[in-house]
Amino acid sequence: MNTTATTATATTDHLAISPSILYFGTPVALLTTENPDGTPNLAPISSAWALGHTVVIGLGGEGRTAANLAERPELVVNLPSADLWPAVERLAPLTGAHPVPAAKRSAYRYEPDKFGAASLRPQPSQKVRPPRVAECPLQLEATVRNLTPAGPDGEFRIAECEVVRVHAAASVVVPGTQHIDPAEWNPLIYSFRHYFGLAHPELGYGFRSQTAGSRA
Ligand SMILES: Cc1cc2nc3c(=O)[nH]c(=O)nc-3n(C[C@H](O)[C@H](O)[C@H](O)COP(=O)(O)O)c2cc1C
Repeated sequence: MNTTATTATATTDHLAISPSILYFGTPVALLTTENPDGTPNLAPISSAWALGHTVVIGLGGEGRTAANLAERPELVVNLPSADLWPAVERLAPLTGAHPVPAAKRSAYRYEPDKFGAASLRPQPSQKVRPPRVAECPLQLEATVRNLTPAGPDGEFRIAECEVVRVHAAASVVVPGTQHIDPAEWNPLIYSFRHYFGLAHPELGYGFRSQTAGSRA
């Protein structure tokens, strides 16, 4: 294979561009937090990653979620499957912040009952106060270990969270094990403001997979 020619072609095919967003395709999570009056807030996010039992989340500093976590550092990271995207999009123009922050006023409205607005059902949690979202196949109860300002003007918050309990729908668990079956779990992916499911069938598995061949 002529690697020199391949490299040259790849280089000339790329454009140096300035996109307005860099949402390159990450799973959607619905965060439940507790409002000052004890009611739940519910907000979609997609800036999240997990390492071990730590989940790190990126939040706008002016939202209700960031304010709730600063005061009451408990949450549930609810992971919707791809078919739930209409419910996620019903939440998209809403904020639990009142009054609506000036920067959001043209596109967002205040909604105190996010569960009702999205037609989703709260389900009591076991280790934290905010409820789970019953429809989400994966629900991670968590506490905030660190909440730090970030961004050029401190306009974001990075929440480092410790997962204290994991709930998984039986349909996505390999029977008789503690493992999620990656072939059954279909996360909702947010890619440049469009929603996708994962393209099945599976392409292959990583060398540390504990579920390879579990569906004989
Ligand atoms: C699919 C999707 C992904 C989003 N990802 C994030 C995110 O990662 N971080 C964030 O702060 N806001 C994100 N947003 C925007 C928030 O949901 C929005 O600011 C909302 O008003 C926050 O609600 P709250 O003010 O009640 O916390 C996302 C919205 C959608 C629809």
